[in-house]
Amino acid sequence: MKNPENKVAVVTGGNSGIGYATAQKLKSEGATVIITGRSAEKVEQASKELAVRGIVADVSQVSAIEHLVSQVKELYGQIDILFVNAGIFAPAPVGQISEEMFDQQMGINFKGAVFTIEKFLPILKDGASIINLSSVNAYTGMANTAIYAASKAALNSFTRTAATELAPRKIRVNAVNPGPVATPIFGKTGMPEEQLNGFAQAMQNRVPLKRFGEPTEIAKLVAFLASDDAAFITGGEYNIDGGININPGIM
Ligand SMILES: NC(=O)c1ccc[n+]([C@@H]2O[C@H](COP(=O)([O-])OP(=O)(O)OC[C@H]3O[C@@H](n4cnc5c(N)ncnc54)[C@H](OP(=O)(O)O)[C@@H]3O)[C@@H](O)[C@H]2O)c1
Repeated sequence: MKNPENKVAVVTGGNSGIGYATAQKLKSEGATVIITGRSAEKVEQASKELAVRGIVADVSQVSAIEHLVSQVKELYGQIDILFVNAGIFAPAPVGQISEEMFDQQMGINFKGAVFTIEKFLPILKDGASIINLSSVNAYTGMANTAIYAASKAALNSFTRTAATELAPRKIRVNAVNPGPVATPIFGKTGMPEEQLNGFAQAMQNRVPLKRFGEPTEIAKLVAFLASDDAAFITGGEYNIDGGININPGIM
């Protein structure tokens, strides 16, 4: 990253998984990093480990995002990098989709992402970089992921329009679409361990490179998109998925 020491980065959902690894990467490159999350305990622990500032903010509550932005503004003025990463995975088959699950998943993964960007816009520097953490599920028909996939497809669509509209301010907006990555997200679904292991094995078998990605691998791509080296990249989507998106199905 060029001139990272002068950059301020906000990483939503930075207490765990991909957000944690990205906060670590951005900090190692010299950026001033703020992480957020829902759980006060986890935010406090992660911010201590990473030696960055942690702020609790539930992105499903617009008022909480507004409060987050006002705290960041007071502490740092403006920011250069916004990594819109907070998200959940709540699988359910069509026919068993509850209104609560729909509202929660769309409320965090899509509405939460949209209002994170909306509310941070006034304190984003001209030339800032927004990176939205989406998923290859936006393009697949994987069983049990209808609402999760729709939330990410919506985010990718929003990314394209935002990139067009924010270009006059030289703000770049890109999306990153990971395949399966080894993080705590799957354990949070409430699936029993045996089912989780079966799910993990099935996913891994479908990945041409035959493994899950590591959070640090996603972090490197996000850090690149955040950097001045990516100055001509906006409105793009980048798969980082071990090839799962092009898996022909018979391997
Ligand atoms: N792991 C994968 O295979 C994979 C693949 C494609 C895309 N993704 C996407 O990657 C992103 C990060 O997921 P991960 O795999 O790193 O999972 P993770 O380890 O579970 O991390 C998710 C983070 O999001 C935060 N979060 C969840 N709901 C939130 C809310 N309402 N407000 C604020 N923070 C919230 C969590 O904080 P708390 O713990 O405090 O709730 C946590 O820090 C998600 O958007 C996910 O959809 C993951």
